[in-house]
Amino acid sequence: MTARAPAKVNLYLGVSGPRRDGYHDLATVFHALDLADEVRAERADHGRVTATVTGAYAEGVPCDESNLAVAAAHALARYAGVDGGVHLTLVKNIPVAGGLAGGSADAAAALVACDALWDTGCGRAELTTLAARLGSDVPFALHGGTVLGSGRGERLAPVIATGRLHWVVAVADGGLSTPRVYAELDALRGRGAGPAPQVPPGLLTALRGGDARGVASHLANDLQQAALHLRPALARTLAAGRDLGALGGVVSGSGPTVAFLVADEAAAATVADALLDAGVCTDALVTAGPAHGARVLPA
Ligand code: C5P
Repeated sequence: MTARAPAKVNLYLGVSGPRRDGYHDLATVFHALDLADEVRAERADHGRVTATVTGAYAEGVPCDESNLAVAAAHALARYAGVDGGVHLTLVKNIPVAGGLAGGSADAAAALVACDALWDTGCGRAELTTLAARLGSDVPFALHGGTVLGSGRGERLAPVIATGRLHWVVAVADGGLSTPRVYAELDALRGRGAGPAPQVPPGLLTALRGGDARGVASHLANDLQQAALHLRPALARTLAAGRDLGALGGVVSGSGPTVAFLVADEAAAATVADALLDAGVCTDALVTAGPAHGARVLPA
């Protein structure tokens, strides 16, 4: 069984002060991209969960329990009372530790691939509960599309969105640790937690109308200032995209990837080439959204 799950960008990411449990409440709009990882799940006689990782961004990805796909297979096996072994093959197309929720995509793909392999009979709601335990972004990777996120990101609600959005994903050299970026934001803000974050109504109006320029004008991310503080070079990347005619640009999630919204597929190719020529990123990926959530691929 092979499943595919999408990368995401946050079109808006409002972050509260720290909660008692260390997490932060979010007001966000998740948007799934065609850029996706794949996970193949095969029965294995050894009775354990093992993994190998291939693909453009395989380097440095662990194969042990710290890999979210392995953790997902374990969690589902425990929940569904399955004791057969499984071998997972991950195809990593999503940059690692880039703020694109690639690890969460792998977890979501592993959940649906193993669920199909083992024929567990779990419902969507049960998989979503398991997903939320694995990580704040995993329920969204299961769901896909363009949706509102709240709580620590695991609570999802629909938005009305029409049309396609075209993106250039500018990959930075090296990743950023998500906890580190949240901690940096807390430090930069000092004591005042500020008001509860809220998604701007203008963004929802633009999404409803399929208005890419309107969406671009509302792209914002509270974590961006923290990511820029830890990686000052990202300011150059953001400025280069704007100069090259992108409709808008924003640091994706906790970064360091920068996502540029562009007018169409042709503009995406032009902006991607020019960003690479300018030397402000290590890779520039052309993609679009919204994309489906994690799904088993036809055999
Ligand atoms: O939920 P997940 O394991 O992906 O979160 C990784 C880390 O990111 C958390 O341990 C926490 O430091 C930070 N985080 C947060 N608030 C959120 C989501 C993540 O502080 N809403």
